[in-house]
Amino acid sequence: MLENIPRILDAHLAVQLDFNQINLQPVFAWLAATGNISDTEMQRTYNCGIGLVLIVSPSDVDDTIESLTPYGGNIIGTILPRRSSAEPQVQIDASTFAAQMARVQRSLHAPKKQVAVLISGSGSNLQALIDATRCTTMGMAAEIVMVISNRQGVRGLERATAAGIPSTVLDHRDYDSREAFDVAMTMELMRHGVELICLAGFMRILSAEFVRQWRGKLLNIHPSILPAHPGLHVQRRALEAGDERSGCTVHFVDEGVDTGRIILQRSVRIDAATETEESLTQKILVAEHWAYPVALRMVATGVISL
Ligand code: GRF
Repeated sequence: MLENIPRILDAHLAVQLDFNQINLQPVFAWLAATGNISDTEMQRTYNCGIGLVLIVSPSDVDDTIESLTPYGGNIIGTILPRRSSAEPQVQIDASTFAAQMARVQRSLHAPKKQVAVLISGSGSNLQALIDATRCTTMGMAAEIVMVISNRQGVRGLERATAAGIPSTVLDHRDYDSREAFDVAMTMELMRHGVELICLAGFMRILSAEFVRQWRGKLLNIHPSILPAHPGLHVQRRALEAGDERSGCTVHFVDEGVDTGRIILQRSVRIDAATETEESLTQKILVAEHWAYPVALRMVATGVISL
């Protein structure tokens, strides 16, 4: 219950919660609608999907979130001075809460967004997306309906088969041009009624035409904290640059290389004494497996759009 929060807070402090960053779980939206329960009553009586709350100083945020791996965590609010005892100790923006509640309630009845995942390799992000979209508490509002790989025999295709998801191999070498390959992909995507595309280790640059056609519906995950280190071999470049932290970015794709609007980032600490390209890659992948599903949920539920 959110009203429990004041018990752990000094009377001179208040907490401001941002419901754009909180996964308001579908069961609470159902409960509010079915029981005709007001927003203020929902906030007073139910935790609305907030689990463990940790209060840390801003300088410890990144390390704290990283230490919660693989469960993940999010910044859901801020501690503020409370100017008077008349001021509520738990502050929630009513319109943000109402909008979030309405979004989740709509998604209870709306068909799930049909998602394609495009891969070229191991597909560990594909796996994270499959697991999340099949998890009842994640409220993903999305389901993966197909996987496209531009390479035959990769591990990601095995993951799709194991999950019972149709997959197609389109080998780019079979096409005369980038544009012809992308047209073939678009035909496959449309045949499956795809509405959102997640690039997950898809090692092909897409044509401007394809990117324009799927504007706002095309997501990518990149293993750096953009705008630092766009392009390839970024873990090595982060080490060479002597960066203290690296991480991952989920972003909308535009015509540039890793330049589209950022949806979500998650950082990891680089251990200067022991880090190798391989160990950093693995560390970032773990962060990616948390970040990509959360970002997809934000797009599928309409929390963020282009
Ligand atoms: C990830 O590091 C992702 O950021 C990058 O390609 C890698 C894909 O890994 N775009 P996987 O195939 O999902 O395991």
